[in-house]
Amino acid sequence: LDIGGGNSPFIMVVGGLGYIGSHTVLELLKANYNVLIIDDLSNSYESVLHRIKALASEYFAAQDKPIPALHLRQLDYRSPCMRSILASYSISGVIHFAAYKSVEESIRMPLRYYSNNVCGLVDFLSLLEEFGIKNFVFSSSATVYGENANCGVPLREELCVHHPETIIDDHGFERQMIPGAMGLTSPYGRSKFMCESILADIAFSDPSWSITALRYFNPVGCHESGLLGEDPRQKPSNLVPVIATVLAGIKPVLDIFGTDWKTPDGTAVRDFIHVVDLARGHIAALAASATGRTKAAFRAYNLGTGRGHTVREVLQSLEVTSSRAIPVREVGRRAGDVGFCVADVQRAETELQWKAEKTLADCSADVWNFTKGQCEPRTPDEMVY
Ligand code: NAD
Ligand code: WQD
Repeated sequence: LDIGGGNSPFIMVVGGLGYIGSHTVLELLKANYNVLIIDDLSNSYESVLHRIKALASEYFAAQDKPIPALHLRQLDYRSPCMRSILASYSISGVIHFAAYKSVEESIRMPLRYYSNNVCGLVDFLSLLEEFGIKNFVFSSSATVYGENANCGVPLREELCVHHPETIIDDHGFERQMIPGAMGLTSPYGRSKFMCESILADIAFSDPSWSITALRYFNPVGCHESGLLGEDPRQKPSNLVPVIATVLAGIKPVLDIFGTDWKTPDGTAVRDFIHVVDLARGHIAALAASATGRTKAAFRAYNLGTGRGHTVREVLQSLEVTSSRAIPVREVGRRAGDVGFCVADVQRAETELQWKAEKTLADCSADVWNFTKGQCEPRTPDEMVY
């Protein structure tokens, strides 16, 4: 399955066939990075590799240039085989997406989550340290803000810290931030906070690490070609993929969880970011780390748009794009939900020189394009429903 070659170093992308990983791998290739994917396909399919390859080939053919290397090792990143892979590749940086991500499942099966998301990361970091690979980008989440999100204003990175941190507040006063996060509502959320804490501790002990935690807000949308998208084995639980299953006729109705939030239409507000913008954020993080622009050995960044949309606005946007009515049922709030969660994006704009460009309408158009174009309907034994 390997394509390309050459002697330049690789970016190792762990979990690179998943939803966000696959879009990021394509952007990495387009930015001329050689890419080595590690993925155990626990929540993705090998066909994604061929789709990335097709899109990258088309991109480079148009420029009459050779495509960078794209290699896949189908493997659990906790496997002992990782040692021999690290020994045989020249790796200049790692982007780590591999994790389990269902909030609901994490409450039922916390050990499964702590084993993969936290223990897996600790062992992997030890191995990377052994090989002197210290340039690391981590998939974090707005979930680390816990109930701080409900403060009703865009969230600044300082609202969740791992070491005492002195900041200048809005009134120009020096203030010591207290480490910790407020009201993390699930083992999944706690696993992300733990991972960030571990990464911050490592960087604090050894400043030769360059660690970037990217806190994604609500990633939606997909590649405009309709070839890459959100196609998990696990039953989806996030808003847009659930709406997509209704549009595809798999699910009869969308349950709206909560219509009594203090928001313009009573439904919750989120910062929906297009996955291609998010993918570009990873390239910006690698570039900033290479030029030393981020300064700190550990630094967290919000990746969002800075603007909120309600659940009903998302629904309407997809109805308009698809020209279909989406049946809904209003039900009570989902346990652990917050009413408002929007990013302050100043830090990423200034230090990563990155900004989200796509709108909610772009997200809807691409999701609909992917949903109606799904050419490989999954058989039940391929899914973990
Ligand atoms: P995804 O499930 O689509 O992708 C994760 C990929 O990692 C999958 O291809 C899966 O097969 C692989 N994987 C999981 N465990 C592995 C292991 N032990 N070894 C090798 N491969 C493994 O998820 P995603 O939506 O692309 O999310 C990527 C990352 O971003 C995750 O860490 C997730 O927690 C985080 N995140 C996601 C969202 C979101 O809404 N999608 C929001 C915030 C943060
Ligand atoms: C958005 C809004 C729901 C489904 C989760 C994780 C977070 C991060 C992103 C990984 C909420 C409502 C949803 C449905 C609905 N993931 N909704 N009906 O909860 O903001 O964040 O995904 O890190 O950690 O918690 O995203 O898409 O699940 O929900 O009404 O069928 O849509 O109640 O208000 P959320 P979401």
